[in-house]
Amino acid sequence: MASKNLEDALNYLFLHNTVKKDIQEGNVPVIVRGEGNYIYDEEGNRYLDLMAGNTRPNAIGYGREEVARAMYDQAMKMHYFTPAFFITTPAVELAKKLASLYPGELTTTCFVCDGSEAVETAFKMAKQYHYLTNKQRRFKIISRQNAYHGQTMGALSALGFLNPMRNVMAPLVPGHAFLIPPYCYRCPLNLTYPACDLACADALDSLIQFEGPDLVAAFIAETVMQGVGALPPPDGYFDRIRQICDKYGVLLIIDEVIVGFGRTGKMFASEHYNIKPDILTMAKQLTSGYVPLGATATTRKIADNIPTFLHLHTYGNHPVCCAAALANLEIIEKEKLVANAAEMGKYFLEGLMDLTRHSTVGEARGLGLWCAIEIVKDKKNRIPFPAKENILFHLALAGRAHGVIIRGMGNNALEFSPPLTITRKELDEGLKAIDQALYDVEKKLGY
Ligand SMILES: Cc1ncc(COP(=O)(O)O)c(C=O)c1O
Repeated sequence: MASKNLEDALNYLFLHNTVKKDIQEGNVPVIVRGEGNYIYDEEGNRYLDLMAGNTRPNAIGYGREEVARAMYDQAMKMHYFTPAFFITTPAVELAKKLASLYPGELTTTCFVCDGSEAVETAFKMAKQYHYLTNKQRRFKIISRQNAYHGQTMGALSALGFLNPMRNVMAPLVPGHAFLIPPYCYRCPLNLTYPACDLACADALDSLIQFEGPDLVAAFIAETVMQGVGALPPPDGYFDRIRQICDKYGVLLIIDEVIVGFGRTGKMFASEHYNIKPDILTMAKQLTSGYVPLGATATTRKIADNIPTFLHLHTYGNHPVCCAAALANLEIIEKEKLVANAAEMGKYFLEGLMDLTRHSTVGEARGLGLWCAIEIVKDKKNRIPFPAKENILFHLALAGRAHGVIIRGMGNNALEFSPPLTITRKELDEGLKAIDQALYDVEKKLGY
């Protein structure tokens, strides 16, 4: 093992979701610095970050002094005071700012520490609302197969894949059910859009009936799904979902933990589909990852029916995190990064579509600066690579060898979500590197 840091990490640190053998084999870089849209490892290698911090929070790039300064100033003035019984000013200011940006009729926000907590908070909000207004103990949550909503126990219970993890952690929270996903490339109903007439959305109606309409509190969905790699829904999907939720009084929770704050070329991805969520979850680009912060917002109607929100996290409404979010949002607005995401996203997707000339690239898809290519062994029949070939891992490594951070998602997709500050020149550099990484791996595996 080359580096002392790797050795110490192996002995003293739990890396999240990382195979220890990869650390031993030196396949886990030690990242020491970031600047603009590039990161540097301890050996001085430079990578173009096409994954915005790999978990995709970084909208504004690395080393932004404005955010660091806002955090410093707030820490010196008032670094912490409780989120209960007292008010701190950055949280109020941020909540008011967000209310001016939200889609639909959302007004009122609760701040927590990350996306998983935002999802937990959404479930609690939905349950408290039903309990207080309808005197009904609605407790069931419906999510979708292939959905990703986080790793705390409630969020994990709504997670529609990662079976080993679900099984190891079982029993999970009771009362979760799963709808089939709108995965057109591999339709779970073997249908084709638009002839299918959105049968995958209609299936929510029968699922609610099966679960008991009086027991279902909420349906949660990401606007663009993560689990199979940046999957936008077909047109009309969310109109149908909204109608079905309204028919049964089921609240619609939209999870914009990844896409919120510009990633898809609109401030919120809900705007693309005219979705009016009852509850919205956010995190990641809210602070661009400079500090942890998650948020859950709801409508005036729901907020007014919850006189005391039964919820208390020590680090809720954290002043330093809220100050960082305000500085981050100012940059996103001042530098017109949402418009840049729309423009650069279109350009990037065209470049990715050109990569479908590779025998292993089945399709390119995405919305704004969140894109994916579907990797296939047999393109004509859309047959994926066997898991044991570990193709996505090889591709991510090959990408790094060509100077870019890219990431496998699910079993079959290679995913890209650059910072919203990305330029055309950097995207050209990234596309060239992805192209070369594909050739390298195809050659190595004999395709
Ligand atoms: C859609 C969605 N919801 C929730 C989460 C959980 O967020 P966190 O990892 O900040 O807990 C994620 C994380 O990737 C996500 O993509």
